[in-house]
Formats: sequence, C-alpha cells, structure tokens
Amino acid sequence: MITGMAGQDGAILAQYLLERGYDVHGLVRWDSMETTQRLDDLDVTIHHGDLQDLSNLCHLINSVQPDEIYNLAAMSHVAVSFDTPLTTLDINAAGSINLFEAVRITNRIDCTRIYQASSSEMFGSAPAPQNEDTPMHPCSPYGVSKLAAYHMARIYRESYGMFIANGILFNHESPLRGEDFVTQKIAKAVARIDAGEQKDLALGNLDSLRDWGHARDYVAGMHTMLQHHEADDFVLATGEAHSVRDFVNAAFGVIGVKLQWRGSGLDEIGVDWKTGQTLVRVDPQFFRPKEVDYLLGESSKARFVLDWAPKTHFSELVTEMVQAEREKQCHSNPGVPMKMVS
Ligand code: GDD
Repeated sequence: MITGMAGQDGAILAQYLLERGYDVHGLVRWDSMETTQRLDDLDVTIHHGDLQDLSNLCHLINSVQPDEIYNLAAMSHVAVSFDTPLTTLDINAAGSINLFEAVRITNRIDCTRIYQASSSEMFGSAPAPQNEDTPMHPCSPYGVSKLAAYHMARIYRESYGMFIANGILFNHESPLRGEDFVTQKIAKAVARIDAGEQKDLALGNLDSLRDWGHARDYVAGMHTMLQHHEADDFVLATGEAHSVRDFVNAAFGVIGVKLQWRGSGLDEIGVDWKTGQTLVRVDPQFFRPKEVDYLLGESSKARFVLDWAPKTHFSELVTEMVQAEREKQCHSNPGVPMKMVS
C-alpha cells in the first residue's frame, strides 16, 4: 500500500512493485485525483482517503491487510510550507503518526513493514556532506514536519517493535516531477523556449546546491529498505552537488544553447552566448524566507548495508527531463518537428 500514490514517487514505485508481482493499493486524496492520470496505465487499486483521518486509515488497513506500507503522502513543497505551516505539520507529522497508530490499532504491528519518507531537508543548515549521524537543523516548516515524523517513526520502532524504516532521501527528480519544483520548471521552460512558446525563465536563488538523483533509482532503495532484516534509517544520495545555475546550464545545453552569465544578485541574467538574448533572470518572488544552501548526501551506509547505488548521472537526468518536455511540446504542436541538436 502506497500513501500519496498520485505523486512522482508513488507512481514510479507502483510501477516498480507491479514489475515484482505485488498487488498494489494506493491511497489518494480527493484533491489529488486530477493527477491520477499518471496511474491510468497501471494495474493498481486506488482508494480515496486522507492521512489526517485516523478512522479512514484503520478501515483501509483492515480491508487491504498490507504487508508493506510506503508512506509517501505529504505536503512536499518547501516554499509553500512557509505559507501553510500548520497544515504542513498536520499532514506530514500528525498524518504520519495517524498511520503508525492505525497499524497498531488494527493489530498489524508484526505483519506490516512501513517505509517513512524522510527528507534531506531535515538537515537544513547542517554542514555538508550529511549522513545518518549528522545533527539536523531544519530551516523550514516542511523540514520541521519531516523531522517530527522521522523521530516518531524511531520512537514507534523502539517502543513497540514496529518495522519502520526512515529513508532520508536527497532531491530526486524525473519527467513526472511537478512543475513547482525547480528542475521541472527549468526543463519545461527550456523546451518551451526552444519551441518559441516562452521568452525567458524567471528563477529565485541560483546559488543553492542540491544533490539531485533520479527518482527511479530512489524507489528501488525504498523497496530494498523494507526487504532488509531489520528496520533502520538510511540516507540515499548521489554524493554529487550542483547549483541551480548548473542545472540551468545543463538544461540549455540539451537544446544546444550555451549561456553566458552577467551581473550578480537580483540583477544576474543568463544570456544566449550566440544571440545575446536574455533567457534567464532572477525574480525575488521565488526566494524563500529562509534557504537551505547546501545539501550533499553521504550514502555509504546504504551502499554498504543495502548494496544500493544510484545508476543515473546528473547529466543523464537533466537530458531525460528536457527531452521529455520537448516531446510533450511536439505532441501539443504536432506540426512542428523536434529540432535535432548535435
Ligand atoms: N521551486 C523553486 N522554484 N525552487 C527554486 C526556484 C524556483 O523558481 N529558483 C530557485 N530555486 C531553488 C530553491 O530555493 C531551492 O534551493 C532549490 O531551488 C530546490 O528547490 P525545489 O526544487 O523546490 O526542491 P527543495 O530542495 O526545496 O525540496 C525538494 O527536495 C526535498 C529533499 O531535500 C522537495 O522534493 C522536498 O519535498 C524534498 O523533501
């Protein structure tokens, strides 16, 4: 059973589990139904429900009797969490506790393994590189909510002997990523600029550094954590950090455009090296009240204990995301062939 199955990770994990012969059930909130198209081709059972409703979770767990629960449901936008701190805590922290309680109430402690989606955002301002032993200093309501759920998972594990594994995942992306996250925003804008449908791209902090991996590699890690003989906490990361500016450079590179950066701070612009056209600019509305500057994961525990390793390099990830957006552009404008870049 996957909570939050309509999200990027939920859809990719559902596919991964189906390929391994699982009977997959997913919890989807009523207001996420419009995003369930990405589940249309998957042979999964969708249940409407909500982590904030304990009775709903108990009924669901009683009827599905899941061997494994992947708790991926969350309010996952860091910037939005500053505007909705209480809702974020309710969904991410209290919602996770509801799920752990529902497994206890339905007497399924001994027969249900739980994956808790913890996040590298919990590290906040802790110095890089970060691993399982790094003290956490979250910098956003989202980070605090995930840290609360992380500690509750540990407490339920240690107090009641529940199998709950915390996967502390660094940023992971794919063509299924929502457009509010910076990678997909960039990939989409580059494809649209290439097709002549958009003039430029406005971004916030270009300097923040993230450890970006591919979501398909990370869902494999989630599954492996639940097959391990004991529940534990694991960092999943590539061990390579890139700035937002690096991502922009790589994405424009996919369409054969080399950017030259001019100016600094709010006046910084990215200019097409050949034509002089401004393609990237900075807009203060995309800055956060407090930023996490540098996330870089050290995942040797997962590599050693779980034999997990990411397979997709940063440049392959960027290329895949931009090409997927270019294909979408071609489908929405069938007369216009996709330009080839040598
Ligand atoms: N979203 C967004 N939009 N981010 C921008 C923009 C913009 O226009 N311009 C710059 N950024 C910067 C953000 O300030 C941040 O430093 C970085 O790009 C990445 O932002 P996001 O893609 O929104 O991801 P995130 O790192 O805040 O959070 C993601 O990763 C976490 C794991 O560390 C989310 O997936 C979280 O749910 C996840 O837990």
